[in-house]
Amino acid sequence: MLKLLAIGDVVGDCGVDFLVKKLPAFIKENNIDFTVVNGENALPGSGISLNITEDILSAGADCVTLGNHAFNKKDVEKAFDRYPDRIIRPFNYDGSLEGEGYTILDAKGWRIGVVNLVGRIYLTPVNCPFLAMDKALDYLKDRTDIIIADFHAEATSEKKAFGYYVDGRVSAVFGTHTHTPTADEQVLPGGTGFITDIGMTGATDSVLGLKKEISIGRIVHHKRSRFDWADTNPAMMGAIFLVDEHTGKCHSVERIKVIE
Ligand SMILES: [Fe+2]
Ligand SMILES: [Fe+2]
Repeated sequence: MLKLLAIGDVVGDCGVDFLVKKLPAFIKENNIDFTVVNGENALPGSGISLNITEDILSAGADCVTLGNHAFNKKDVEKAFDRYPDRIIRPFNYDGSLEGEGYTILDAKGWRIGVVNLVGRIYLTPVNCPFLAMDKALDYLKDRTDIIIADFHAEATSEKKAFGYYVDGRVSAVFGTHTHTPTADEQVLPGGTGFITDIGMTGATDSVLGLKKEISIGRIVHHKRSRFDWADTNPAMMGAIFLVDEHTGKCHSVERIKVIE
């Protein structure tokens, strides 16, 4: 069995600092074989840089995935150039954009395919993530032992439908983007481990990572104040998928939340 860890959106300095502090020991203590971290909000104000990509990889991530904020900061292109197989952006974005939408990495000699996709409901319309996944699988299925997908989407319905759409064809699907974990982790009938959202890594005393005063000001008083990220009560949230490397089937999904 392989133990695959997925960590939810790392938000701002607080999230990066907490990940760097907690992830190495968590990987060791839990005998994790492969780790994917969503880093789309790692820079304060969203996006990611080369330096922060390196911080996340050094902390133990094998692969960094992104989402709708993938291209918010231009520095991400340096990360794609430096680590073309270790940081990926949604595959269903325009193919002419920088970066790759899937990658193949190694875990204990097994080939792990990771796919990143972004949803279309309540987000900017992009190419169909379902058909894009079919295309990614056409390439990956004969070249990998295990396939994991980070489906970065807002609507729970779209994420759940995606899970069933690929059930039996991939080992694990985890949702990201809402920064709020869901309690619906399960193994689908075809053997795909699934959870609608794995939550976030960063300040929990916040509104999805944003300072609560700023969020209240924007929502209640229509203040257009700039985003400012919270830094209190950090947590690292995610899920562990136990996968049979010989069949690619998932045996169990467990939600995790690490606090101080
Ligand atoms: Fe996010
Ligand atoms: Fe997002």
